[in-house]
Amino acid sequence: MRKVVVIKGDGIGKEVIPEAVRVIRQVTDKLEWIPAHMGLECNAIYGWYLPPRTIELVHESDAVLFGAITTPIADPNYRSPLLFLRRELDLYANVRPAKKLLPNIGVGDLDMVLVRENTEGMYTGIEREEGDAIILERKVSEKACRRIVRYAISLSKRRGLKRIHCVHKANVIRRSDGLFRRVFFEEMEGSGLEAREMLVDAAAAALITKPKEFQCIVTLNLYGDILSDEAAALVGGLGFTPCGNIGERHAVFEPCHGSAPDIAGKGMANPTATILSGTMMLRHLGLCQEAERIEGALKRAYLDGVSTPDAGGHYSTVAFTDEVVRRLDA
Ligand code: NAI
Ligand code: MG
Repeated sequence: MRKVVVIKGDGIGKEVIPEAVRVIRQVTDKLEWIPAHMGLECNAIYGWYLPPRTIELVHESDAVLFGAITTPIADPNYRSPLLFLRRELDLYANVRPAKKLLPNIGVGDLDMVLVRENTEGMYTGIEREEGDAIILERKVSEKACRRIVRYAISLSKRRGLKRIHCVHKANVIRRSDGLFRRVFFEEMEGSGLEAREMLVDAAAAALITKPKEFQCIVTLNLYGDILSDEAAALVGGLGFTPCGNIGERHAVFEPCHGSAPDIAGKGMANPTATILSGTMMLRHLGLCQEAERIEGALKRAYLDGVSTPDAGGHYSTVAFTDEVVRRLDA
């Protein structure tokens, strides 16, 4: 049995995760599901945003399925437990596929995967005061660049892709982004893949004007965070886009969206992004046919006009999932 730790988190995380688990349990009994806690509500109950027991459990897991957590705005000492987990498990690759599930969902004609460096860049969390200024330490190491580019290359080969775009801002941020750019071209040499590059601002525009250009983007942390939300918006919105945080030993799968306090508790969240995060997880665990079965059922549900309010429909989170489950064998 492969061990999957399930962390619902806060807000709509508590609504979409059980539904994704329900769908996956219909297609496989090869997974052992282990519940764990994290987030704002967890802190209110247990006094930890990320309890030591949760850290232990994720270390022993083969994969983690995670919902979303709410950031406490008023706590000045708050350090994101999710960022901690990414670092603790050395989940160096953030992988976000952006593909329209069906032609009528979303606006952009995208079918690409974004591979984002997940451990350094702007997200080191190291800020200090100097006079009236706050200085942020932005870190770009050769080791991190090399392994994220290598990851993007092996993923592109596995998926039969032909080119990779390195997205950076090395014209201005010359040394650190320059390092990333140099490593990219070094690693791409002899890979059999076409190496392209684009400045991040131009890439933001090109995602809209020339979406077909992209098959795989490899980029640094902040650029990847922003471009992947843009890509998500183009293929249907946050309710549709999954994400995997991958390391050598561990992996955490989660929808791209947050805890959505504006709709939490109303039973109207779209579970698609979480179900697709689940199918990414199944593929990661080698359960590819099971993943395909679920994706087929999802597509059939949408083709039959089943959708949640964010996608123009009237189905609740649970009713939507019922319809997906019903189509698993169709
Ligand atoms: P959000 O992604 O939670 O919501 C943005 C908008 O999209 C909202 O209008 C929401 O209703 C809608 N939306 C998101 N997911 C949806 C779904 N599955 N179905 C239907 N509509 C959906 O981002 P927001 O509002 O900026 O953040 C809310 C909280 O979540 C904050 O505390 C933030 O820090 C946290 N957050 C947590 C993340 C995580 O745990 N990975 C990621 C992003 C934000
Ligand atoms: Mg984000």
